[in-house]
Amino acid sequence: MSTHGKQKRLTTASIRAMKGKERVVCLTAYTTPIARLLDEHCDLLLVGDSLGMVLYGMETTVGVTLDMMAAHGRAVMRGVSHACVIVDLPFGSYQESKEQAFRSAVRLMQEAGCDGVKLEGGEEMAETVAFLTARGVPVFGHVGLMPQLVNVAGGFRSLGHTDEEAAKISRDALAVAEAGAFAIVVEGTVEPVAREITASLGVPTIGIGASPACDGQVLVSDDMLGLFTDFKPRFVKRFAELGPLVSQAAQSYAEEVRTGQFPAQEHTFQPKR
Ligand code: KIV
Repeated sequence: MSTHGKQKRLTTASIRAMKGKERVVCLTAYTTPIARLLDEHCDLLLVGDSLGMVLYGMETTVGVTLDMMAAHGRAVMRGVSHACVIVDLPFGSYQESKEQAFRSAVRLMQEAGCDGVKLEGGEEMAETVAFLTARGVPVFGHVGLMPQLVNVAGGFRSLGHTDEEAAKISRDALAVAEAGAFAIVVEGTVEPVAREITASLGVPTIGIGASPACDGQVLVSDDMLGLFTDFKPRFVKRFAELGPLVSQAAQSYAEEVRTGQFPAQEHTFQPKR
């Protein structure tokens, strides 16, 4: 197939090949305009199920559906010409069986046109990861803190503090990598464990709250843009403070509408004759 006239986007194979050579830059994107702004700066854009909390105000990601992921995946794909795009399989769409996972992944790849899917899980998901990759679905793994397990884990906290926790995360990462994942998110994990995993795997580790020892980093874009004034966990660095800017703009607009300053003549249509 000719790609003449079209810019080629990064593939999951090119992300995998960055291991040991270049750090992988990843951010979340949920909409076309944000994808357009982030695309040229990122290697990977993740349509994360965090969109349930960030865009829809949910308490956790558990309520996110495959329909939501397909719609946002499609929107992001309309805004990219450079980055590789991965869409999260939401809670309940893949844990039941490897066949269910395959059907859900195919739906996302066909409806959204994304390059692969991400799923949370370690040793217990290795068979599913192998099943998907053997059938043409690139898989981005996700170990350490797994937000979809919040109801059994009892909350969100960093992991790897005990030898038992550390060994479990290492086993999980190894199992998912050996099963064929092209890269693995390591979330909320203490630095020595993230370093050990990164050194032992042949695929890139992409950290979020998992130290600079990882091969790349991911953040929720809305967090790093400072859109939330009341949420500032340790692992987030705000590269902008857009929340107060949005609020100030809305305040100015409200004042101008109330005083009749807006719209002015330059914003007003007049008959052409
Ligand atoms: O859902 C998400 O955005 C994620 C990232 C935070 C890794 O899983």
